[in-house]
Amino acid sequence: MPIHPPEPFRMKMVEPIRLIDKEERQSALVRSGYNIFGINAEDVFIDLLTDSGTGAMSQEQWSALMLGDESYAGSRSYVRLAETMKEIFGFHYFVPTHQGRAAENILCSLLLMEGQSVPSNTHFDTTDANIRARKGVPVNLVIDSAYDPNDRHPFKGNMDLVKLENFIAKTGVDKIPFGMLTITNNASGGQPVSLENIRAVSSIYRKNNIPFFIDACRYAENAYFIKLRESGYSEKSPQEIAREIFAYTDGATMSAKKDGHVNIGGFLAMNDEDLYLRAGNELILREGFLTYGGLAGRDLDAIAVGLREGLDEKYLAYRLAQTAYLAEKLTERDIPILNPPGGHAVYVDAKTFLPHIPPHEFPAQALCVELYQEGGIRSVEIGSVMFAHLDTKTGKMVYPKLELVRLAIPRRVYTQSHMDYVAYTFAAIAARKDSVRGLKITYAPELLRHFTARFEPL
Ligand code: F0G
Repeated sequence: MPIHPPEPFRMKMVEPIRLIDKEERQSALVRSGYNIFGINAEDVFIDLLTDSGTGAMSQEQWSALMLGDESYAGSRSYVRLAETMKEIFGFHYFVPTHQGRAAENILCSLLLMEGQSVPSNTHFDTTDANIRARKGVPVNLVIDSAYDPNDRHPFKGNMDLVKLENFIAKTGVDKIPFGMLTITNNASGGQPVSLENIRAVSSIYRKNNIPFFIDACRYAENAYFIKLRESGYSEKSPQEIAREIFAYTDGATMSAKKDGHVNIGGFLAMNDEDLYLRAGNELILREGFLTYGGLAGRDLDAIAVGLREGLDEKYLAYRLAQTAYLAEKLTERDIPILNPPGGHAVYVDAKTFLPHIPPHEFPAQALCVELYQEGGIRSVEIGSVMFAHLDTKTGKMVYPKLELVRLAIPRRVYTQSHMDYVAYTFAAIAARKDSVRGLKITYAPELLRHFTARFEPL
């Protein structure tokens, strides 16, 4: 077998993509306010904006859609999903939601009060914002290795246990309504968390009576990293590893648009009956009835099939190897990346690549703009546009430690030559990188500004 296992599937339906010319790309950038979220998909050649909801469904998933039962209550589709949920995650209860952030909103609305804090390794932007929107404080306690792009720690998503213990002691348990852990840790490089760490985090939360919820978006990729890298797990299946992970927790939020292999969907799962009843009321108020939660019956069937496919070992081996392949090709061209590469994405270290652009001129956003300009490639900034914020106590801006450009790889969509093209485009930018300029913001909303902010080149 080659180092990079071939795709364990072949294509029977294709979607044309085209590279528009350089002048058209420039006009698209101007129209979007230099924000890649504002560019039409039609004008994008390779879309690495996100791996969320952008994957290709399998023939089994498309067939399952036809079996969708659209009954308002108690549909067969719900029953099929509930069986799959029980088998994979083992939680007593769950409510389907239209995506991950809806699950986060319900959890925060039920448990979080103003001024309370929620620790995690690193909260993703929507979780961070859902906590802030209820005047809570998201706290990131990932190990320091996560902030060093060259530290090859095998589990860079791990929670720092000392920081967690100190944080709980200092804050007081009454100010911590629940604790989280994001697997894999998307906002810090898509890095996995070890089972040893999950076990230890669980015992710290349990000792302090803090309910433990996992953000499970990419739990299957995390499980496969555990199989590959943690001693004692090489003979276990991703499914067995997943069961062990969730046995240490009280519940989970998940956007099924990632490792659930669907274009829309998510859930909030839990063991506590009272929390389930309250979540159900909130769901009915905002999303839909208990057995569909803002989705069509056919969506539930697609999730039920997709969750199982997401745990397939052959698929996971190919998936992580494709990401590693892109990382290798970039490294061969001296493009600095966060090492080791994550599961769903390669993160380019824009601070090192463009050292002449300071954080307040958004080096990672500038690189996203160049990548589109040069090759019609869409990526996403995970740096100061996404995470810099005003510290209300000091009145100063706080900038994140890393300025990253995330190249997120949609599941089962692009081939190795698409990855070669991305690396080739980076090499073209590298040859003229000293001339790349920073940006200034001309408009930004208060929360989640990266989605709709507008910029001008400096
Ligand atoms: N948690 C994590 C770790 C995520 O990566 C995301 C979404 C969410 C929660 C929210 O899920 O989008 O279904 O509401 N991440 C996407 C991304 C948007 O591009 O990484 P959602």
